[in-house]
Amino acid sequence: MSDKATIEIKGKTYEFPIIEGTENEVAIDIKNLRSSTEGVITLDPGYKNTGSCESAITFLDGEKGILRYRGYSIEELAEKANFLEVAFLLIFGELPTKEQLEKFHADIKAQSVVDEDVRKIVDAFPKSAHPMGVIASLTSALTAFNPSSVNVNSEEDMYKAIVKILGKFPVLVAWTFRKKNGLPLDYGDKNLGYVENILKMMFKQPNEDYLFNPIVINALDKLLILHADHEQNCSTSTVRIAGSSHVGLFASLSTGISALWGPLHGGANQAVLEMLEAIKEDGGDTEKYMAKAKDKEDPFRLMGFGHRVYKNFDPRAKIIKKAADEILNDLGVEDPILNIAKALEQEALKDPYFVDRKLYPNVDFYSGIIYRAMGIPTDMFTVMFALGRLPGWIAQWREMRLNNEPIGRPRQIYVGETLRSFKTIDKR
Ligand code: CMC
Repeated sequence: MSDKATIEIKGKTYEFPIIEGTENEVAIDIKNLRSSTEGVITLDPGYKNTGSCESAITFLDGEKGILRYRGYSIEELAEKANFLEVAFLLIFGELPTKEQLEKFHADIKAQSVVDEDVRKIVDAFPKSAHPMGVIASLTSALTAFNPSSVNVNSEEDMYKAIVKILGKFPVLVAWTFRKKNGLPLDYGDKNLGYVENILKMMFKQPNEDYLFNPIVINALDKLLILHADHEQNCSTSTVRIAGSSHVGLFASLSTGISALWGPLHGGANQAVLEMLEAIKEDGGDTEKYMAKAKDKEDPFRLMGFGHRVYKNFDPRAKIIKKAADEILNDLGVEDPILNIAKALEQEALKDPYFVDRKLYPNVDFYSGIIYRAMGIPTDMFTVMFALGRLPGWIAQWREMRLNNEPIGRPRQIYVGETLRSFKTIDKR
């Protein structure tokens, strides 16, 4: 392959370098397009063809259904690693040694107390507030309690900010959940693992000990790993672009949480469960909903189906579907919604509308069924996604700052009015 791309614009020819990644992905490097062509830019709504950065964190091949964190396959990590190891791997690039992991966990635990005044903010939210709005606000509020900005040139400063958010975010998640359920706000237990602690902080009743269920711990660990990073998706791009203005880590993360909330992104897990419930309430007629999804006049979409990058299958969905079966079985939960989900999947996999458009179940299609079996309410599903995605956002923010990337600032093609004269109000 030539190492140059040639573009002809208005009779003039320009050459641009071709760059290739370690997995042979190819891009035309257009960094100098505008300056060398007197103002020509590219137009790519939704960035369907645009690489925004070079990244060494996550590799994804949508055609082959491959997902790897730092070179390790998602299948192997989900089976053999725990969430904190994966967080370390994503953020710092290598799997931790035993000592590194212990230190990392100890440093996180040392930072897992939240300023008491944050409780007043939690108290001010109505119980009806959506937990994603609350957690985005609380993450943003952390900037007020930690006002000094991170010196990204200092590894120590960077590390401190990272363990701080990994320590405090689960507390904020638990408080968001407990406040909504009228439970006292409490702290976790320093003697517990990262994931066990999250469960205890969320579910412990004030008048009894919390009983750990290894099936639930393993299920949450796996779900968090599967959600931990997904290269330049909507929320991650948001974190990177916000952080590129040199706003701090916590402020950047809160923008990512807001972006994740939308039903086309992380909010799909809540939307899937609501859709499955609606189908059940409506008599379980999956064919009717398939027809609605295919009807271009109907805004209904089959939530949990389709993906911008995966055009074969979502490897996370494969793992989660199997896990959903096992976990419901192990917990002795019979959920009719699982059967509705399977029926929809079966119909979609042989329906030309879905086959032609390469629409397969994504990570959100089965995850809600597991969360529900674990006792997590529907409106907390996307918060659990955020909990899993946190190390990914941190890793991407860190990479962006260490690479000294320029401020994110796309251009546009203006299609509005050309110059016109101002009309005073009596003449309009
Ligand atoms: N149900 C019915 N039709 C669909 C669906 C769906 N879920 N998804 C895509 N299509 C159709 C769409 O109407 C279009 O048809 P046509 O070519 O006739 O106009 C075609 O498939 C291509 O869709 P698109 O919207 O151009 O694709 P996109 O890459 O812009 O969007 C998506 C990807 C994930 C936003 C979309 O598939 C979708 O809305 N899915 C449902 C929401 C969902 O499950 N989101 C979670 C994504 S995975 C987790 C995450 O991102 O956090």
